[in-house]
Amino acid sequence: MKGVILAGGLGTRLHPLTRITNKHLLPVYDRPMIYYPIQALINAGITDIMIVTGGSDAGDFLRLLGNGKEFGLKHLNYTYQEGEGGIADALRLCEHFADRQKLCVMLGDNLIEKNIGAAARTFTRQATGAHIILKEVPDPERFGVPVFEGERIARIEEKPERPQSRYAVTGIYMYDETVFEKIRKLKPSGRGELEITDVNNLYLEEGTLTYSVLDGWWTDAGTFQSLHRATCLVVQGGANKSDPLESGENRALARSVK
Ligand code: G1P
Repeated sequence: MKGVILAGGLGTRLHPLTRITNKHLLPVYDRPMIYYPIQALINAGITDIMIVTGGSDAGDFLRLLGNGKEFGLKHLNYTYQEGEGGIADALRLCEHFADRQKLCVMLGDNLIEKNIGAAARTFTRQATGAHIILKEVPDPERFGVPVFEGERIARIEEKPERPQSRYAVTGIYMYDETVFEKIRKLKPSGRGELEITDVNNLYLEEGTLTYSVLDGWWTDAGTFQSLHRATCLVVQGGANKSDPLESGENRALARSVK
């Protein structure tokens, strides 16, 4: 499975911090934010990675990450999102890179404590469809929220005023090759973006969306509060780097990152 990290957007919720740089380059304790999702994918055994960025600071990603040597990678892929069309619009740019293979997509401002390797391996065995990862949170109204019928997800609501469950849909998504057909069917939402929640709802209608619940902490880092929380969580518990890694190869990759 290939990996995609979405690191575009204006990051307006973090003004003035993001007025002259990209949100995903801001520090979370001792590293730029984007280091964490890169390491999370590598820890899950995903090493063919595309970074989607945009705006006026896109060149800084190249200067910072190069070909990924610091992560033990031989190569990193980059693409550029024009405008601010949303998460699904950014993913659209990865069709050529995906080359009909499955993708694990991670939002560049999402941090996790543990390893998503088990979910990734399970998804590689899932014939078709998509897989999302949920986490119980105190403030689901800030996120995509699943509405359950028993154990089954009936639909996902984006930032509902009255959340129907305590779970957030985290920014870690696994998709089969049909994701690009689904994105082509989308219409911009109220906030003028192609919503990833609409993509997930199309998989639900098809009956091919599976989910799991994440072990360990998860946070986004796109607001002052969540950026501060991310820093505290990393300081207290480490992210990814302190994972009990599963394969010798991954352990070697993780060691190569200070
Ligand atoms: C996005 C998604 C939302 C998801 C969240 C996870 O929200 O739209 O469904 O729960 O990422 O970080 P955004 O951060 O773009 O508001």
